[in-house]
Amino acid sequence: IIENKVDSLLSLMTLEEKVGQMAQFSGHTNLTGPATGDDFREYVDKGLVGSIFNVFSVDALRQIQEYAIEKSRLNIPVLFAADVIHGYKTTFPIPLAESCSWDLDLMEKSARTAAIEATSDGISWNFAPMIDISRDPRWGRVMEGAGEDPYLGSLIASARVKGFQGISTYKDLAKTNTMIACAKHFAAYGAAEAGRDYNTVDISDYRLRETYLPPFKAAVDAGVGSFMTAFNEIDGIPCTGSKYLYTDILRDEWDFKGMVVTDYTAIEEMIDHGYAKDLKEAGMQAVNAGIDMDMKSMAFTKHLEELVKEGKVEESVVDRAAARILEMKFMLGLFDNPYKYMNEERAKEFVGNPNHIEQALKVSQRSIVLLKNKDQLLPLSPKNKKRVALIGPMVKERNSLNGEWAIRGDRNESVTLYEGMRDRYANSNVSFSYSKGCSLDDQDDMKGLREAMRVAANSDVIVLALGENYHWSGEAACRTNIKLPEPQLKLMKALKKTNKPIVLVLFNGRPLDLSWEDENVEAIVEAWYPGTMAGMAVADVLSGNYNPSAKLTMTFPRNIGQIPIYYNHKNTGRPYVDGSGVDYLSSYRDVPNSPLYPFGYGLSYTSFEYQSLRMSSNSFTNDGNINVTVEVKNTGEYDGEEVVQLYIQDVTASVTRPVKELKGFKKIHLEKGEAKTVSFTIDKHTVEFLGMNKQLIAEPGKFRLWIGSHSADNTLKTEFELKTN
Ligand code: IFM
Repeated sequence: IIENKVDSLLSLMTLEEKVGQMAQFSGHTNLTGPATGDDFREYVDKGLVGSIFNVFSVDALRQIQEYAIEKSRLNIPVLFAADVIHGYKTTFPIPLAESCSWDLDLMEKSARTAAIEATSDGISWNFAPMIDISRDPRWGRVMEGAGEDPYLGSLIASARVKGFQGISTYKDLAKTNTMIACAKHFAAYGAAEAGRDYNTVDISDYRLRETYLPPFKAAVDAGVGSFMTAFNEIDGIPCTGSKYLYTDILRDEWDFKGMVVTDYTAIEEMIDHGYAKDLKEAGMQAVNAGIDMDMKSMAFTKHLEELVKEGKVEESVVDRAAARILEMKFMLGLFDNPYKYMNEERAKEFVGNPNHIEQALKVSQRSIVLLKNKDQLLPLSPKNKKRVALIGPMVKERNSLNGEWAIRGDRNESVTLYEGMRDRYANSNVSFSYSKGCSLDDQDDMKGLREAMRVAANSDVIVLALGENYHWSGEAACRTNIKLPEPQLKLMKALKKTNKPIVLVLFNGRPLDLSWEDENVEAIVEAWYPGTMAGMAVADVLSGNYNPSAKLTMTFPRNIGQIPIYYNHKNTGRPYVDGSGVDYLSSYRDVPNSPLYPFGYGLSYTSFEYQSLRMSSNSFTNDGNINVTVEVKNTGEYDGEEVVQLYIQDVTASVTRPVKELKGFKKIHLEKGEAKTVSFTIDKHTVEFLGMNKQLIAEPGKFRLWIGSHSADNTLKTEFELKTN
C-alpha cells in the first residue's frame, strides 16, 4: 500500500520537488565539519527539503514542520534526524564500553530507551548505530563502535538496529517511539591508514568483505532503514561515489530497500579527494553510484535538475531515490500526522526519565572492565576502616564523563567519581581525602603534584582517576601516542614512590598503552566514558556493590608499534611463539607479539574454573552438528557473571584462516560455589568462511576449538572434523 501512495505522490511532483526530497540540511548546533549551519527556511517553504538534522526541541521542530506543511505546494513533511549514538538526554556509556558488556539484550534495550527519548523530542531518524570494525586505537572513532571482531560486531549491529527500530523493524516504525536506524559508515571507515580520521583506505576486496562488511550485512538482515556513506576512499574511489558499494553490493547483492544518505559534505569532498572536478560532477557521481540523500553539500539542490536535463543522470534514478525517502516518511506515519513525534507531554515524561537514568547506571556498571587486581586489592569494602586518597584530574571532572556524541546529555548533570564515592561509601568505615594532582591535558602543575603527595602520604590506599579529556576521542580526535597524557604520567610515577597501593581508574575512549601501569600499579579499572551515572557506577565497582563482568572488545597493545593488533590475525608462514627465542620468525626484537590485554579479557572479583570440555562427537557432516559442553564453576568468594567464549581455527583451508575466530559466547551468572554446564552447537554455519568466489563455504577438514574466558585462554582445547557427506 505504501508503494502505491509513494507512486501517486511522485506522479504529482515536479523534478525540482523530487530533487528537494534528496537534500538534507543542518541546523546550527553540533556541527562536525567546516561548513556552517544552513539557512533552510526558504527551501522548506518551497518544499525543497527532505530532511533536517541538528535542530532540537519540540518547539523548534514543530515550527519548521509547520512551514513545510503549510507553505509548500504538496505539504510533504520534513524528516528530522540526529546522532543519537549513546543515549539522548540520558547518556549511556560510549558504545565501545557498552559492547564490553557482551550483553546483546542490554544493548538493544539501551538503544530502545534512546529511541524513546529522541522520538519524544521530535526526532525520528537516527544516525546510528556506527558499526565500523575498529582495529586501530589511534583512530578517535573507535569509541563509537563495537570493537574489532566481525562476529560480535554483527550481533551488536543487529541488536542496536532492533533497539532503535523495534524488533519487527519496518512494521514497528509506525509506532511513536521507534525511529529509523542508520548503518554507518559504509564502508571500512575504521581501516583509515595510520589511524587518522578520514584518511585513505586501501584493502583487498577479500578483507573488505570478510572483516568490514559483515556488521553491515547483519544490519540489513535486521531490517535497518538507512545507510550512511563513509568519508574515506577505498582503492582509489571515494565511498560516496562508489557504485560498487552502493549498487553492486548494497542493492544487488544484499537487496537493501531503504535509503542512503551521505556523510556530512561527503559529496563536496570528492573534489578534494581528486575524484570530481566540481560540485556538479561530484553530485552526478554520487547519485549514479546509488546515493539517495545529500547531507550538507547542496550538490543535488544546485545541480541535479540540470544533470537530468543534460542526460547525465536518468530521471528514473531521481525518482527511485525520492521514492525511497518518501517511503520512509510514510512508514513513520509522517503523512498521517507530521507532528506525530512532537508532543510536549511525551517529551516531559520521557526525556531524561528517572527510570532511564536507573537503566543507564546498570549499563555503566556492566561496561566497566577490571584489567588488573593484584592480591584482590579490590573491592575496597565499606566495612573496612581505610583512609582512601582520591587523587587525579578525573576525580571531580564532570565534563568528560559522557564522552563524545552525547547529543543532548547535559554534561553538568553527570555524576562525578567524587560524588559517587561519597554516596556509595556514606556511613561507612572508609574516609576520603582529595587532591586533583595535575591537569587533564598538557600543563604541568608542581603545586598540584606536591599536594597530591601530601594527601597520598596520609592514606592507606590511593584511588587514582586519570584519563582522556573527551575531546581526545571521537570524530577527528586521533592520537599518535596512546599513553596517558604526560602530566598524568608524572603524577602516577610520583605516587608510585609513596609505596601506597594504587587503584587506577581510567576514563577514556580508546584502548591505551598501559604497559607501565600494568607493571606498577596494583589494580586497573577501565571505566571508559560511563555517561550520566558515571561516578555511581564506578563507585559500585570499587566498593564491591557490583562485581565487574565486562570483557574487552578491542585488544590493548603493549605499545603503539604493535598496531594494528587484533586477536583473529593470520598465522604467517613463520609463526613465533612468544619467549621461544627462535630467530627468523615473525616477531619483534623489543616486545612479545602478544598484546597487553587480549580481546575478550576482563577480570571479576570472583574466580571461574573451566573444566570437562566434552563433545557429542568429534566429527560432523554438512547436515549434522556437534554439541559441545563445558562446566564453569564459580570458585571464588563472590557471586558473579562470566562471558564463556568459544573460538575455532580452521587448520587448513583454500583461503588461509585466522589463528582463532570467535564463534559463540554465553554470559552466565553464577552464585558463589555454583557450577553450570554451558553448551554450544557446532554446525556448518560455525565453520563457514568466505571463499575466493565471495560465497560462504564450509570446507571439510580439521578444526581446533577452545572454550575459555578470553581469546588467549588456551587451557581447554580440543579438535573436531567436518566430513564430506
Ligand atoms: O552522523 C555523523 C557522522 O557519523 C559523522 N559526520 C557527521 C554526521 C552527522 O552529524
